[in-house]
Amino acid sequence: MGDSGWVLGIESTAHTFSFGLVDSDGKPYPSESSTILPTEGGIHPRKAAEHHADSAGDLFARILERENLDKDQLSAIAYSQGPGLAPCLRAGASAARTISSALKIPLIGVNHCVAHIEIGREQCGCDDPVLLYASGGNTQVITQLSGRYRVLGETLDIGIGNMLDKFARSNGIPFPGGPKVEQNALLWEGDSLEDIPLPYVVQGMDLAFSGILTAATKATKEDVPFAAVCWSLQEHAFAACVEVAERALAHSGKNELLLGGGVACNERLREMCEIMCAERGAKSYAPPKMYCVDNGTMIARLGWLELKEGRVTSLSESAINPSLRTDDSEIIWA
Ligand code: ATP
Ligand code: FE2
Repeated sequence: MGDSGWVLGIESTAHTFSFGLVDSDGKPYPSESSTILPTEGGIHPRKAAEHHADSAGDLFARILERENLDKDQLSAIAYSQGPGLAPCLRAGASAARTISSALKIPLIGVNHCVAHIEIGREQCGCDDPVLLYASGGNTQVITQLSGRYRVLGETLDIGIGNMLDKFARSNGIPFPGGPKVEQNALLWEGDSLEDIPLPYVVQGMDLAFSGILTAATKATKEDVPFAAVCWSLQEHAFAACVEVAERALAHSGKNELLLGGGVACNERLREMCEIMCAERGAKSYAPPKMYCVDNGTMIARLGWLELKEGRVTSLSESAINPSLRTDDSEIIWA
């Protein structure tokens, strides 16, 4: 086993295959990533898995070379055990097992959603936040209660990022559509939500985005300006997330909000969270964008935290779990 304690993290839940590192003190280093961009339609899980398997050798070599590290300086390999698309997860787990057995270093299978929280806590220096996790496949409001991260509210249908991507695709914009929706929304100078009505769905602590997707797509076909629909879509969908996040702060009595997931790159969402938090005497945090999107570094960071507590994953326990829940994983670290 290497003795200088670097931990390598492998992320492979969906489009992005990514290798990241933390050093022996748990300090994060940026990831080396490759994202498969579908030429048409949505993600094809098997093609994405092939892309991941093909990229593994290159990404591994690149990150070691960039940090001037030798393979022997790695002391453990962490990987996303779930949740995610099974073929993609399998590609990551298989790369992790290969490296682990070649270098004779332990494997640590970690929970992808929990990794988003832990990299955010590390980057932002917040302690006990409510996380608004807004990505392509996931939209959840999470916080730590009784030794686990609990999901207090979530989407009942599609993730907010998938909604933005599908809306963009129906208007001829390829994946990822979220950043293009953001750019177009900035072009709209109106400010009345009544002018561009869209459904707003919050059910208790839960959210739903398929209705707003249908309505927004229909509006663009009825000649409402594209920028206006982008703007209204963001205002409605983000306000729904922020409403649930605010209620989670109120119920839990906590005063830190942390953003994570690819949609957390959006400046308007960041601003709305800051406004809500300022109004209730709380503080809103958002990590650098490279640590909001899926990245290997967050997997390495969570692996490092678990390894410190002595948790490793044996080969027989190393199978992926596509439907792993945020609260399936016990928090054994501080
Ligand atoms: P997960 O497995 O956690 O669901 P994912 O595969 O969706 O992750 P991420 O990298 O977390 O991957 O997020 C990608 C999503 O983020 C895409 O839906 C993309 O459109 C969206 N996104 C990225 N940047 C922005 C932005 N500036 N505004 C809105 N959405 C964005
Ligand atoms: Fe993610």
